[in-house]
Amino acid sequence: MSDDHYAGAALGWARGATIVYAPIARELVATAPQSLSGRTVLDVGAGTGVASTVLAELGARPVALDRSFDMLTWDAGRRPPSAVADVYRLPLRDAAVDDTVAAFVFNHLVDPVIGIAETARVTRPGGALLGCVYANASGSEARDAIDLGAQREGWQVPDWYVELKRAATPLLGTADDMARAATQAGLVDVVVDERGVDVGVTEPEQLVDYRLGQANYSAWLAELGARRAQEIRSRLVEAVRPVMRPYRPIVVFLSAIVAAR
Ligand SMILES: C[S@@+](CC[C@H](N)C(=O)[O-])C[C@H]1O[C@@H](n2cnc3c(N)ncnc32)[C@H](O)[C@@H]1O
Repeated sequence: MSDDHYAGAALGWARGATIVYAPIARELVATAPQSLSGRTVLDVGAGTGVASTVLAELGARPVALDRSFDMLTWDAGRRPPSAVADVYRLPLRDAAVDDTVAAFVFNHLVDPVIGIAETARVTRPGGALLGCVYANASGSEARDAIDLGAQREGWQVPDWYVELKRAATPLLGTADDMARAATQAGLVDVVVDERGVDVGVTEPEQLVDYRLGQANYSAWLAELGARRAQEIRSRLVEAVRPVMRPYRPIVVFLSAIVAAR
């Protein structure tokens, strides 16, 4: 079986999950200690290009790497130069890019220090390395209600997702853990901030579209077909409405500098 768990997820990500990931990408890029305008910036774990878009708007020249061909080829005609690659072993020479942005990719790694060090290797000394993951403390009754409702409709949490949540995502899920990993990876001027982000998701329809747009839902929704998926979406919207609050995920932001070598 392929280890690309995002195969088939690009459409849902672009139309749904981006509602939440775009505002967080803007906050992440805003943590840069220097202007990124005119610089070549690696977007690693780029997915459908959410952070690449923010970088391009700021006048940077993004390049995108991701393990998932499907995610990377979403809207290919408008994407920056891209290649399929694993963050543990990037196909770039040392110091190939000026800075790197890693939005929600280090949380996929069972050895995040190696992944962070590899992104530092390909980034010029003195350049910025910006990363973010969800905090272990992040939670939402409304989001949980969607997952519970979907399970009642027949969704089974995929094994790969259970394993990801068990073995990888908790590793960087506090400010202390992120700071320690960044320092062990050789980064300097490490600044870590764990805080809630107002992503502008206030309506149950938005939250359901975000949640169903994630990769752990894509295979099930594809099996259901468009009509049944739409019916289930409507029932989930009504199920979440009574407990809906503005969605405010807690995110651990890393902003650091690549050390001289
Ligand atoms: C949660 S998505 C984030 C996508 C994008 N950065 C965003 O913020 O919308 C995680 C992405 O990381 C990619 N990914 C996961 N593990 C990876 C690895 N070891 N190397 C490269 N990419 C990886 C996935 O294919 C997916 O596109």
